[in-house]
Amino acid sequence: MTKKLVFLGMGGTIAGTAASAADNVGYRAAQVGVDQLLQAIPTLGTALGCHELVSEQVAQVDSKDMAFTHWKALALRVCHHLAQADVSGLVITHGTDTIEETAFFLSQVVPTALLASKAVVLACAMRPASSMSPDGPRNVLDAVALACTEGAKGVMVVCAGTIHTAQHVQKIHPYRLDAFDSGDAGPIGYVEEGVVRLTYPWPKTEDVRRPITLEKMAQAAWPRVEIVTSYVGASGAIVRALCSAPQGSEGPLRGLVVAGTGNGTIHADLDVALREAQAMGVKVVRSTRCAWGQIVPPSVLGDGFSHFEGLSPVKARIALILELLA
Ligand code: SIN
Repeated sequence: MTKKLVFLGMGGTIAGTAASAADNVGYRAAQVGVDQLLQAIPTLGTALGCHELVSEQVAQVDSKDMAFTHWKALALRVCHHLAQADVSGLVITHGTDTIEETAFFLSQVVPTALLASKAVVLACAMRPASSMSPDGPRNVLDAVALACTEGAKGVMVVCAGTIHTAQHVQKIHPYRLDAFDSGDAGPIGYVEEGVVRLTYPWPKTEDVRRPITLEKMAQAAWPRVEIVTSYVGASGAIVRALCSAPQGSEGPLRGLVVAGTGNGTIHADLDVALREAQAMGVKVVRSTRCAWGQIVPPSVLGDGFSHFEGLSPVKARIALILELLA
C-alpha cells in the first residue's frame, strides 16, 4: 500500500506575498494556495520518499483572524485523514500568530486513537513566500521529516529546526525566524539535515482529558470566554462591562480567564469584579502573565478560582471553552 502524507493549508505568512522580495514585514498573509506553496519546494519530492502527497486548502486566513468555524473545519479534516489506513501523518501550514492555539486545540479534540501512532505537525514561517530568503520551505521540509519519522505521534509545531509540543509551544518573538519557545519544558527536539533528534519522548496522547467528542464540539454553539489581565491600576470595569454587555451573536459571557501577575495574583479591585462575575454564573479561571513556569499552589488554593496546570492564558481559554462545551 502506498502511504500518503497529507498537507492541509490554513494560510499565514508562509502563504504570504509582498510587493518586493526585500520586504519581510509589509506583506499580506494567506495569498498563495497550499498546492503552489508545495510546488515551489524543489526538494520536497526527495523528502517525501515513497509517500504520495495529498493536499487540501482548508482555509486561507491570516491567523490573527482565525475563528471557531476554521477550527471546526480543520479538526474534522484532520480526523478524516488520520482515520485513513494509508495516511502516515499530516502537515498543516498555518500562520505563526495563533499557531500555538490551533495546535493546542487539536491536541485536545482529536481522538487519542487517531494520534496514538501518527503525527500532526504544524509548520509556519516568519517571512512571506515572496521573500528573497523565505523560511517556509525549510520549515515544511522539517515538518515532513518529523511527520515521517518512525514512531512520531501527537500534535507538534516545527519552526527554525526546533520542534515544540502543542502543550508548551508559545510564540515569543514578533520578528526572529526562531520565534517560538517551550518554556521550562524546552523543545521536544530538533530537525537537523532532515533527521529528527528528540530531547524527550513523543507527546503523550493518552493522558489528554478530551472533555468533549469531536462530533458534539462541531455541532454545539461555542461558549463565549474572554481573557482579562491583571496589571497596575487594574479595575473591575472591563469585567463588569463584559458581564452586562447586550447579548450579541457571541452569546452571553460564560467564562473568564484572568492572566494574573506572578503566581496568578489578581489586583484587589479586579478580584472583586471577578467574584461578582462568578456569582452571576461566569466560570473564572486563573492563569499567569509569566511566560515561563506555572502557578504554584497552595498560594491560590481554596479561593474559588481554579487553574489549568501550566497553561498560558490563551490555552487556558481553549481548555475552559471545551470544558464548558462538554
Ligand atoms: C499569521 O499568523 O497568519 C501571520 C503572521 C505569521 O504567520 O507569521
